[in-house]
Amino acid sequence: MANSSDDVRVRIFLGITGASGAPYAARLLEVLTEADCEVGVCASAAGLEVIATELYGDARLSRDEALARFTEHARGEVTVYDPQDWRAPYASGSAKVDAYVICPCSMSTVGTLAAGAMANLIHRAASVALKERRKLVLVPRETPLSSIHLRGLATLHEAGAVVLFAAPGFYHRPESIGDLVDFVVARCLDQLGVENTLSGRWGE
Ligand SMILES: Cc1cc2nc3c(=O)[nH]c(=O)nc-3n(C[C@H](O)[C@H](O)[C@H](O)COP(=O)(O)O)c2cc1C
Repeated sequence: MANSSDDVRVRIFLGITGASGAPYAARLLEVLTEADCEVGVCASAAGLEVIATELYGDARLSRDEALARFTEHARGEVTVYDPQDWRAPYASGSAKVDAYVICPCSMSTVGTLAAGAMANLIHRAASVALKERRKLVLVPRETPLSSIHLRGLATLHEAGAVVLFAAPGFYHRPESIGDLVDFVVARCLDQLGVENTLSGRWGE
């Protein structure tokens, strides 16, 4: 799914939920927009609290301020949607969307999705991806996992989702937190079909 200025823009939905890992979401948004993708962003209330805590060191930042700061480094076309915005294109399978990613993905959202419930636009978009047989990448972060978590993840995997844990490798000899973040983001981009050279590839 390489993008060039002659191509129609690749359209990606980025859902951000309240698991630890806001730096992955920030880097993903930065690289997707650098790659000229059209990105629709929706963050849950807990997702924004984690963004405020992990990226800006202030859990009490308002929703609007956290979103404004989060999107200010995006390089291209980004539209932010409210979690209850059922009129967003991502709420329907009739809208053309190339891929969906929830990064980070909380266990609460895993449980909701596995039950087929849809309490917000993130759940709805993921459910649309599954029913339309489109690419859905989930980036969970929790440890250890209960059998409830594991069953939920297995259900989603069986339904077609890619479960891509926020679990960076160390074989590329990372020197910074940024290198660890890029390892996970690179694997996401590979799954989303976006060309990248963020992190070394084994054998190259
Ligand atoms: C700072 C912070 C870190 C959290 N980390 C995790 C986590 O790593 N994994 C997880 O599943 N939930 C985590 N939670 C709990 C979720 O945010 C909580 O279950 C929330 O209801 C998830 O809602 P959402 O899926 O709508 O975003 C964290 C919450 C906070 C405030």
